Amino acid sequence: MRRRLAAGNWKMNGTAASLSEVEKLLEAHLSPNVEILLCPPATLIAQLAAKKGQHPLMVGGQDCHAAASGAHTGDISAEQLKDAGATYVIVGHSERRTNHGETDEQVAAKARAAHAAGLTAVICIGETLAEREAGQTLDVVGRQLDASVPDAATGQTTVIAYEPVWAIGTGLTPTNEQIGEVHDFMRSRLSARFGADAAFFRLLYGGSVKASNAVEIFAIPDVDGALVGGASLKAADFSPIVQALEQAAESELP
Ligand code: PGA
Repeated sequence: MRRRLAAGNWKMNGTAASLSEVEKLLEAHLSPNVEILLCPPATLIAQLAAKKGQHPLMVGGQDCHAAASGAHTGDISAEQLKDAGATYVIVGHSERRTNHGETDEQVAAKARAAHAAGLTAVICIGETLAEREAGQTLDVVGRQLDASVPDAATGQTTVIAYEPVWAIGTGLTPTNEQIGEVHDFMRSRLSARFGADAAFFRLLYGGSVKASNAVEIFAIPDVDGALVGGASLKAADFSPIVQALEQAAESELP
């Protein structure tokens, strides 16, 4: 029902030379059960799209502006990402929320812009360490999910990434029980709002996913894949994560 998704976010890393890593990835992965998405810096989107050729690898942006065009120096619209070869865009990553003060309302507007341009939005949400320690995780995740996901979202146009802020780039991860609790909560919350279509939304976990923890994370119910930062930069690190997801997908086939 939900095709598993291994998404890599290169953040502000990589130049044209880094695309050689992608070649290795393309050679190693052709499973139809898992979708692979790479979100390189915007400067590399067109080159990556050209390089992948007929390979089913998806290419995505890391952010887009909420407006379709206009006087917004330095920003990129969803339509421009699409024009460069992207079919996905990440919105609301915690680094955007923290470094650029993006609110849930702005994230929802960006997701609507992505949808209008025909892109699938990967909407990121997640609690800070202080919020988790104060027992507010589900409150925060629920609020962000309600306010960042547009009403018109569907499982086809929208992916949700649960990324605890304190787990991003730190080597720390929640316990499997904690991840399972949040994913189960997100599915129920989506069901209350979107009804039966909630079953089609893919829910990714993100935050210090690596080869050594991927197998156990992918075994958690309602974890449909991962959003991977640091470990997506090198094929040697990302490939075993994709492989773990391929195995998880295969083990579920009838
Ligand atoms: P990380 O980043 O895998 O390096 O922790 C995840 C993310 O920011 O999406």
